[in-house]
This record gives sequence, structure tokens and C-alpha cells, in this order.
Amino acid sequence: MMTRTQVGIVGAGPAGLMLSHLLSLNGIDSVVIDNRTRLEIENTVRAGILEADSARLLADTGVSDRVLRDGHPHEGIDLRFGGESHRIDFRALVGESVWLYPQTDVFVDLANARSRDGGDVRFGVRDTCVDVDAPAIRFVDSDGVAQEVRCDLLVGADGSRSICRDQVPEALRTFSFREYPFAWFGIITQAPRSAEELVYAHSPRGFALISQRTETHQRMYFQCGPETDAAVWSDDRIWEELQARVAGPDGFTLKEGPITERTVLRFRSFVAEPMRYGNLLLAGDAAHTVPPTGAKGLNLALADVRVLSEVVERALLKNDRDALDEYGPRALARVWKAQHFSYWMTTMLHALPGATDFDVRRQLGELRSVTGSEAGSRFLAEGYTGCWPA
Ligand code: PHB
Repeated sequence: MMTRTQVGIVGAGPAGLMLSHLLSLNGIDSVVIDNRTRLEIENTVRAGILEADSARLLADTGVSDRVLRDGHPHEGIDLRFGGESHRIDFRALVGESVWLYPQTDVFVDLANARSRDGGDVRFGVRDTCVDVDAPAIRFVDSDGVAQEVRCDLLVGADGSRSICRDQVPEALRTFSFREYPFAWFGIITQAPRSAEELVYAHSPRGFALISQRTETHQRMYFQCGPETDAAVWSDDRIWEELQARVAGPDGFTLKEGPITERTVLRFRSFVAEPMRYGNLLLAGDAAHTVPPTGAKGLNLALADVRVLSEVVERALLKNDRDALDEYGPRALARVWKAQHFSYWMTTMLHALPGATDFDVRRQLGELRSVTGSEAGSRFLAEGYTGCWPA
């Protein structure tokens, strides 16, 4: 079966679906495919923080206003170290807040909006391959039928294990990355909130993050070794570890409950350049990943497709193919700021294996510099909210 479209998009995560949505607003048609089923994507627990610009993009372009109804605006975060909390007030420092609204909900909103608007999204496909020179996607659909989608432009929004990225010849591409000697142990617990805002905790036993989901379920993480097997940890041991990492003279404790989900998340910093090769454009995790400490991953994906939809419109509607050359440089300017921010938050807050007493005291000095000065706090607030000066 053959389908003809203007833009063929591999990957129906937030980047691929948002791009398809933005293009459709300008009368450009696209086909989106994903090898995961819709249910698989919906059942994967992902991160939860949206920059204000990301929330506005969802609401203002008519994806859904659910983010503004069901999301929770957060006007700051707590950095906790030495057993004390220090609030970074985003609203006071940069005039913006962020939204706690899980990526899973972003996905559901986008998938619903695409089906509401008659978008062509095919989940649960297999054996996907792409042709960049004569742009096309070939795959077997969920009914077992071989399909070919011919298009003018191909977009690889197919995540950190992208197959599209491999189409860029080795001689022309650069992969920049950094590995970290730790991972995150992530849980969902059935318990009330322990704090109104996110708590990023530095402790001698390592980093912990206290996040939220709903009135009844909360998300928390703690730094662990990359080889940790989540299955062997009892609930009691998990709570003991989390409580120890946030404990302090102020008596702050976490509200405990049954642990309904547990996973070890490994991560790295990664950037693939260029983001365009001929008819192929990469977006989101296919082009770059960040450690989750800065809550930037989903936001960067949405920032990519905002630029991408604009240049694709100029290329296809105004016959200005040179516009495509702008995509990589414009997207990468933001990507590298976010890379720095995510790396900085990660190295400032985690216990580094083999750290000396000097290293730990320097880290605490860094945290005091950030929380104790308006300039330091504003630097963090700009990065976290994504409100970087132009
Ligand atoms: C989350 O709620 O899952 C979350 C929040 C902030 C982060 C990472 C994850 O930095």
C-alpha cells in the first residue's frame, strides 16, 4: 500500500505528534508512524515538568487546555542541602513559572488532538526503514500489511535509539556525549504530597528528587548505581533511603505509601550534529538527550518542533528550501544551553563516586553561591524555566 504525504514523521512521541499538529494548522499534511502501540506509550512513566512556553504551545495551538486545568503551576523549587531547604523563586526572579503536567498526559492530549483533526498516525508498526534520498518510510502496519509512505521531507522524531539518525553518513556527523557513573531509581507511590513544590536534595548519601503527580500519587527518585536491580529493593529499604536523603534538623519527612511502580533510569548527555541531512531532519531525543535533573528533555523536543514547523512551512509552502539550513543552528543554540544547564544541575547535586572531601565541600559552596545570591538564583531560574535571554 502506498501513501503520499508532504512530511513523513518517524516517532509518535511528543515531538512527532506536535510537529504533525503544527504543520496541519498550516495546511501541510503528514503521516506519523511509531513501532510502539498507543497503550505502550501511555503506560510508560516519563518526566513531569513543562516550561511555561511548552504549556502555552499546547493551549494556544488548540491541542488541549487540559494542561491549564489539570496541571499545577509551580512558581519555584527547593534546593535542599546540609539538611535545609532553600527556595528558588522563579516568579520573583524571572517572572515565569513551570507546570507540573506529566509527559504521558502531553502524549494523550496530542494523540487525541491528532485523531480529532483527522491526522494520520499509525501506532504499532514494525520493520521500519527510511530512504533519505527518495524520501520514504517503509514499514509493516499493525494489521501486517506492508506500507510505503512517500514524502517530500522526512523527520526522525524516533527517540534516543533513533534509526533515522543512522542515515547521516558517519563521515558527516558528530556525536558528542557524556556518561554519568550513576542512574536514578524512580518510584510512584500511593501517598499524599510531601511538599507543594519539587525538592532537589543533595545529601552525603546522594541525590534525591521529590516530585508530585496527583492528590493520591507521587513521583520520587534517588540516585543509585547504574547497575542497580530495582526488583530486589523492598519498599522499606526504598523509604529508608529516600528519608535519609531528605532528613534534616527542620524535621522534613516524606509521607510514605505503597510503591506502585519502580524503575532504574539510566541517562546521558548526548548531541548528534548536524540535525539536518538532505531531506532528513532530526528532532527531540533522536538528536539530543539530557540527564533528567534539569527537567529539560520534553521541553527541548517541543522547542525543536516549534522551529522545525516554521522552516518546513517556508520550504514547502514558499518554495524556500534554504530555510531548512536554519533549523539545526537555531535549534542547537537552545540545545547546548540546555545541555549545560542539565549537566550543571546534575554535577552540582549528585554524589560523585570517588569524590574527595574537597569535592563535596566545593559542591556545598557552589550550592550556597547559587541559593545565597540573586545572580546565582536567577541563573538557575532562567535555565529551569527555559527563559534564557535571547
Ligand atoms: C518528574 O516529576 O518526573 C520529574 C520532575 C523534575 C525532574 C525530573 C523528573 O527534573
